[in-house]
Amino acid sequence: MADRRVHVGLIGLGRMGRFHAENLAGRIPSTELVRVVDADEGVARAFSERTSGTDWSTSYGDLLDDPGIEAVVIVTPTPYHADMIEAAAAAGKHVFCEKPISLDLERTRRATEAARTAGVKLQVGFHRRFDPDYRIARRKMAAGEVGSPYLFRTSSRDPRPPGFDFLEHSGGLFADFSLHDLDLARWLVGEIEEVTVVGAALSDPKFGELGELDNAVLALRFTCGALGVLDNSRVSGYGYECSSEIVGSLATLRVGSQEQIGPEVLTPGRSCRGFLSKDTERWAAAYAGEMEAFVLAVNSNQEPEVGGADDEAALALARAADRSYREGRTVRLEPEGQVGRNAR
Ligand SMILES: NC(=O)c1ccc[n+]([C@@H]2O[C@H](COP(=O)([O-])OP(=O)(O)OC[C@H]3O[C@@H](n4cnc5c(N)ncnc54)[C@H](O)[C@@H]3O)[C@@H](O)[C@H]2O)c1
Repeated sequence: MADRRVHVGLIGLGRMGRFHAENLAGRIPSTELVRVVDADEGVARAFSERTSGTDWSTSYGDLLDDPGIEAVVIVTPTPYHADMIEAAAAAGKHVFCEKPISLDLERTRRATEAARTAGVKLQVGFHRRFDPDYRIARRKMAAGEVGSPYLFRTSSRDPRPPGFDFLEHSGGLFADFSLHDLDLARWLVGEIEEVTVVGAALSDPKFGELGELDNAVLALRFTCGALGVLDNSRVSGYGYECSSEIVGSLATLRVGSQEQIGPEVLTPGRSCRGFLSKDTERWAAAYAGEMEAFVLAVNSNQEPEVGGADDEAALALARAADRSYREGRTVRLEPEGQVGRNAR
């Protein structure tokens, strides 16, 4: 049963959806991509033609009505996620949904609960948990090889912003961008009880006009006592980077050398190497890995490694970060049961 091919439908063939669809259509042997849906007919038709005949449509109802489809991958803009999760759960389909489920904590909770009540799997797109290097780091943490964690650092940088039309509906830097770092911090080190943020809009006046930030630094205090620092930039210019360090009492882990690509070229007094420009290059293995893990969870009837409760926890932290930035103060999260807790 565990290596049976899972029949999947995908909704949303934009920047991220195309990448997932290509993985599902070709790179992951345990799936069959049966149907793709995009509100833009030309986009759906073009993908179908490129993949020699995957069924396509412009309405996700078609996908939910298809009894041959067991699982749905949702990669539409964030405002659609929660409704689509609930509709898929009601139709008895397992769900992989891109992050975040919603920008609203209560809505996130309800969609997660709908999947649980319907008895379908719900995995959320925190792909970094499936990156080979970060997985090794996590295993070493769990095995006690780092000892007591003292300091966690992650630098996440995009070379340029995704476009102001996207930013307008993205939910802001913390819910859209820092969310991945906050999830990584929880997953590697543990729960976070305090967030202090400084942020700025430096590269283009349009960021300020939208009430958006292009750079931020988040200082964290973990429940275990460790400290954390996340630096985020949407405008690094030089390339895409996500690097981390965990400094502990026994060892320090560094993850991140994969941003450098190609051979190092040495000329008199100079050394030069290529650097990644896109997140999809950096995370190719992680994006494939998260889809393989989702299909495995479906096939083996196990809970996905990362689900709605993790999304809710990361969103609560993103909300706390936003409040810290806007109110210019440290925000503490209520201690017990990270999920659903409030910031004060
Ligand atoms: N995990 C990651 O690394 C990562 C990276 C980028 C984006 N994302 C997430 O993925 C989601 C999509 O982001 P994107 O950058 O691909 O967006 P996008 O705007 O590039 O693409 C969205 C696509 O959905 C289609 N669409 C919109 N409404 C639809 C509907 N009702 N039914 C069917 N199709 C519809 C659009 O036509 C478009 O093709 C967002 O939630 C974002 O947060 C995650």
